[in-house]
Amino acid sequence: MNGPIIRLTNVVFSYGRRPVLEDLSLEIYEGERVGLYGPNGSGKTTLLYIIMGLLKPQKGTVEIFGKIREKEKDFLDVRQKIGLLFQDPDSQLFCPTVREDIAFGPLNLGKTRDEAKKIVKKTCEILGLNGLEDRITSSLSGGEKRLVSLATILAMEPVCFLLDEPSSGLDEESTDRLAKYLNSSKKTCLIVSHDRNFMERCTERILFLKNGRIV
Ligand SMILES: Nc1ncnc2c1ncn2[C@@H]1O[C@H](COP(=O)(O)OP(=O)(O)OP(=O)(O)O)[C@@H](O)[C@H]1O
Ligand SMILES: [Mg+2]
Repeated sequence: MNGPIIRLTNVVFSYGRRPVLEDLSLEIYEGERVGLYGPNGSGKTTLLYIIMGLLKPQKGTVEIFGKIREKEKDFLDVRQKIGLLFQDPDSQLFCPTVREDIAFGPLNLGKTRDEAKKIVKKTCEILGLNGLEDRITSSLSGGEKRLVSLATILAMEPVCFLLDEPSSGLDEESTDRLAKYLNSSKKTCLIVSHDRNFMERCTERILFLKNGRIV
């Protein structure tokens, strides 16, 4: 693509009276790895939800893969091609076991049982999850849940990752593994994090969200 794969123009969004995003504009090009940084409550998660069409702005335009997206159906292909890592793993994981959670996306995208099995194996290797495949998802530790959430996104092989606090709760080894994967994947990434060190390792430019705008 020549133009940006994500373009928000003059977006205004509020949950109630006070706007969270005010006249926010942003462009992300294919292959870029961008960080998004900002205080608690500044609207980072809200911004990711707007890109996925989970929230609709009151004003402004959302353009993804070169097309203006407004209605629910405009976002169907966006949600197949862009993988969102939720800030809270419990919003991501809903199957009884780790294996089922990771296989869910690929099966949903039309992969066979056999193909899904291979994808689960490969994804677990990338993230160091081998041995956890048959664990009950709800009984995993916080860091393990984060890694399984990441695995569900990787397994869908999206063209772009939106990652909300991907390194939060991860130990040094897992963080390192994730950083290496992201740096080698060449995929477009928008990474929200309070971990400056991780951001500096994994992104080429960092945006700062404050008072509803990118500053
Ligand atoms: N469903 C909701 N209803 C009302 N207000 C909300 C809702 N979700 C978020 N907010 C408010 O909107 C603001 C932005 O929230 P958001 O979750 O986008 O912030 P954030 O930058 O991701 O913060 P953090 O760094 O803590 O994750 C906050 O003040 C939050 O309290
Ligand atoms: Mg957030």
